[in-house]
Amino acid sequence: MRFVLLGAPGSGKGTQAGVISERLGIAHVASGDLFREAVTRGDELGRQAKSYMEKGFLVPDELTIRMILERIVAPDCAKGFILDGFPRTLEQATALDRALGERGETIDRVFYIKVATEELVRRLSGRFICRSCQTPYHLVSSPPKVEGRCDLCSGELYQRPDDLPETVRKRIEVYFEETAPLIDYYKEAGKLVEINGEGEIGGIGERLIAALPQGLKWE
Ligand code: AP5
Repeated sequence: MRFVLLGAPGSGKGTQAGVISERLGIAHVASGDLFREAVTRGDELGRQAKSYMEKGFLVPDELTIRMILERIVAPDCAKGFILDGFPRTLEQATALDRALGERGETIDRVFYIKVATEELVRRLSGRFICRSCQTPYHLVSSPPKVEGRCDLCSGELYQRPDDLPETVRKRIEVYFEETAPLIDYYKEAGKLVEINGEGEIGGIGERLIAALPQGLKWE
């Protein structure tokens, strides 16, 4: 079970990947979360990633590919994984295919979560993230039970610095230039399933569940 969630910033990749990974008992591998953890640690990867992230640019492929290929061979990925935010360029997609191919593995399905641009901006401007477990909340559509605290781990909620309006616009622009071509890449590979990403969070989860390969059992 190896899946990719593809979609613009704010399309709900993190929200839905969390649900799927929990239900299927597979690892949720989010490139943005891994970069933010590195920034918090203040290590070399974090120092390099920070300057790109705060401007809304992509972190260079070389760094990103190395980080993800190391992550998906960890023991918790043995049963499968859902990639959230990776790949984001054609170079990343081909590197992933090559690395999996060398092990006789492949990506089983790619879910493209489609959301209108004005809705993306609305979602990102109201988003708060848990500092400890990275669960996303929204001021209006999915507020926490206790203000400022994560429902799952009671961690502190904060607003991501790259969710400021100017950086959000840049991230959406970068998505259309660099990541949207992956829609055709995976369509041609016969792996793409388009999911309407608008409406209730639970309803979108149901659409994703219905689009999973047949025979998968929920835990
Ligand atoms: P990353 O963290 O991956 O950010 P992103 O792709 O921009 O995605 P987001 O996390 O902003 O949105 P999401 O789709 O996960 O939506 P969410 O579920 O949170 O990347 C950050 C940066 O890291 C990049 O800019 C880049 O610099 C770097 N980076 C990461 N990966 C990289 C890569 N592969 N290559 C190079 N650089 C990379 O939902 C958003 C909000 O909407 C939340 O508040 C949520 O509660 C709410 N919401 C969700 N669903 C709904 C709904 N149905 N209705 C109403 N509200 C909803």
